[in-house]
Amino acid sequence: MAATNDTALAGFYERLHSNRMMGLWEMFSAYGRNVRDGKLAEPAQIWRWRDVYPLLMESTEIALDPRAGVERRNLVFTGKDAGLGSAVPTMGCGVQSLLPGESAQCHRHDAAAIRFVIQGKGAYTAVEGERLYMEPGDLVLTPHWTWHEHCNEGDEHVIWMDGLDSGFSMMYLKAQAWEAYPERRHPEDHAVGYTRRRVGTGLVRPVGRIPEPTLPLIYPWAETRDELLRQKEQKELWDPYDGFLVEYVNPATGGSTLPTLSCRMQLLPAGSSTKSHRHLSNYIYRVFRGNGWTDVGGQRLEWEAGDCFIVPQWIWHSHTATSEDAFLFSMNDQPIFEPFGLHASEAAD
Ligand SMILES: [Fe+2]
Ligand SMILES: [Fe+2]
Repeated sequence: MAATNDTALAGFYERLHSNRMMGLWEMFSAYGRNVRDGKLAEPAQIWRWRDVYPLLMESTEIALDPRAGVERRNLVFTGKDAGLGSAVPTMGCGVQSLLPGESAQCHRHDAAAIRFVIQGKGAYTAVEGERLYMEPGDLVLTPHWTWHEHCNEGDEHVIWMDGLDSGFSMMYLKAQAWEAYPERRHPEDHAVGYTRRRVGTGLVRPVGRIPEPTLPLIYPWAETRDELLRQKEQKELWDPYDGFLVEYVNPATGGSTLPTLSCRMQLLPAGSSTKSHRHLSNYIYRVFRGNGWTDVGGQRLEWEAGDCFIVPQWIWHSHTATSEDAFLFSMNDQPIFEPFGLHASEAAD
């Protein structure tokens, strides 16, 4: 019988749904025909350092007790419109604190992670038995399924930002394996600097036996800063939408930082502004230095050093640095879109 009146239609939908089907048109009416234009209720999301830091300090008073599940002191930023423990649907981020003398159990997991160092010296992250000593502004990679641990040998309180592809790997793909190393610490299998010596730092790379695609790497702040300051002297390198911008590449492949994540650092000289654009990739920003504001979907996010904010996908945005040069660290999920030809961007003018 043709579904020609309300009663008949209701019966049709009931039979359809009870057989675990739905009309494609029902999806369109639920999401809107152009999903890209689906606006978030509140695109502006920022975690200000002046709110985060006191809570992180308070967390240092909680005793570490692995039996109670308190293995490390990480505060995870929970974004609106994102899944459990995610800042944006594909990625998670937060801050972690390691007091002098503390260490974290060696472990590995499917999710790939990055650390961007905020404060303190004397700690290292060891990846696959190679110690990567961390200083403020350094970027450290712990690629997926690599053994990693943290240890603070110094006398300073060390804090870093964690970033993970956890929304994508754990929530979308259900790649949720996690394993503790049989001992608390992994043997020190390699001397400091082993991976950088093996694969170089980007200008040349070994030919022939290409190393594995994911590597335990550290990108020292001094190198990133010097590259951006060199760019600043060459006005033709100014990108109208991102200012002076570098990507942390995999020196073995020339590809993105990790298969699922791209990390970047941009320099916005004092008083400069970028033009507005939007893209399908999601960005998590952390202000390393400077102050200014970012217009996200018409909302003005004022930021200063230490603040963390989100630019969700397909939202118009532009940046302005105010009284001093601003260095913005960011991570994005563009490498997930690109292999499938799904990435898109649009400029306002
Ligand atoms: Fe981990
Ligand atoms: Fe952008």
